[in-house]
Amino acid sequence: MVKKETSLKLVFDAGSTVRRPVEMTDASGAALLHKIFEEGVTLGDACELMGRFPHQSVDLFFTSPPYADVRAYSRIHPDRYVEWFLPFARAMLNSVKPTGSLVLNIKNRVANRGPLRGQRHPYVYQLVLALQHMGWRWVETYIWAKPNAVPGRFGPRTKDSFEYVYHFARTNKPYFDLDSLRVPYKADPAEIERRMRDTNGRRNTGAGFGRDRTKTYLLGGADPGNVVSVSQTYNQHYGVQHTAAMPEGLAEFFIRAASPKEGIVIDPFAGSATTVVVARRLGRLAGGIEIHERFVVEGRRRIAEDSAFDAPGNLFKTVAM
Ligand SMILES: C[S@@+](CC[C@H](N)C(=O)[O-])C[C@H]1O[C@@H](n2cnc3c(N)ncnc32)[C@H](O)[C@@H]1O
Repeated sequence: MVKKETSLKLVFDAGSTVRRPVEMTDASGAALLHKIFEEGVTLGDACELMGRFPHQSVDLFFTSPPYADVRAYSRIHPDRYVEWFLPFARAMLNSVKPTGSLVLNIKNRVANRGPLRGQRHPYVYQLVLALQHMGWRWVETYIWAKPNAVPGRFGPRTKDSFEYVYHFARTNKPYFDLDSLRVPYKADPAEIERRMRDTNGRRNTGAGFGRDRTKTYLLGGADPGNVVSVSQTYNQHYGVQHTAAMPEGLAEFFIRAASPKEGIVIDPFAGSATTVVVARRLGRLAGGIEIHERFVVEGRRRIAEDSAFDAPGNLFKTVAM
């Protein structure tokens, strides 16, 4: 069935503490999004609910789905992971805006049975290729580096100290705000000053033509690169009741970069609502979907507490780059 094209015009209800769009044309899909924003986290199966979203309505899906075979709350065999995930990916592709993105935090695992036992299972790579085949454009692979990853016995390998974050986009012109990610320059101030005053900034060398070095430090900060270092225990002092809560700093990095202010951010595997809490602090219109009621309750508690003593903008300074 071809869905009717929806032009989604957002008008914010200035008097309300809940920021919500008051005009969308695909009535039942819009009503569902309203409900998700109102509730913060909505109880249900993300595949079913996202299938009812208005066409081209969401700016960013930012999520960390259940990893294969790991948690008691959703055991998906790695051999069947791609097959399990694709209907969710299809629903997101149908409802993302032309400038929109899917940012997916995921991690592979060592197979514990079958012919691959003891090896890294390739399901993450298989998933990436399947998403690209579906029509999601594979924009970038980020590494979430965990400086404090938990040690243990992992066979002939070191501890796992990183996870992947894959950025996929609907079209070749996704929203991306690099300036929102910039970090302080590492060069000392005297060198920055010297470069700015250099009257012959562009020099050709044997290795090819040079960049204009006078402009290196005019961007207000350095590009942080695609390795994002965030401590895994960041959330623990909040006492979040979820076994796989992600650090807020990770969510903040990608929400800033891949969604505009007042844009719509959805986390289909909301868990304890880290995405929703952080996105709302950053002025996005955000909501999540979660299939387990106890996590829905926890997510809503977190959202309510956070909006009670919200301090926009403070969080990002704590992200170690
Ligand atoms: C890795 S956790 C997400 C953790 C989250 N990022 C946080 O910071 O708390 C994945 C979540 O997806 C939920 N989930 C699994 N299948 C689902 C489905 N079909 N629809 C919605 N949620 C689902 C699980 O219950 C789990 O809470």
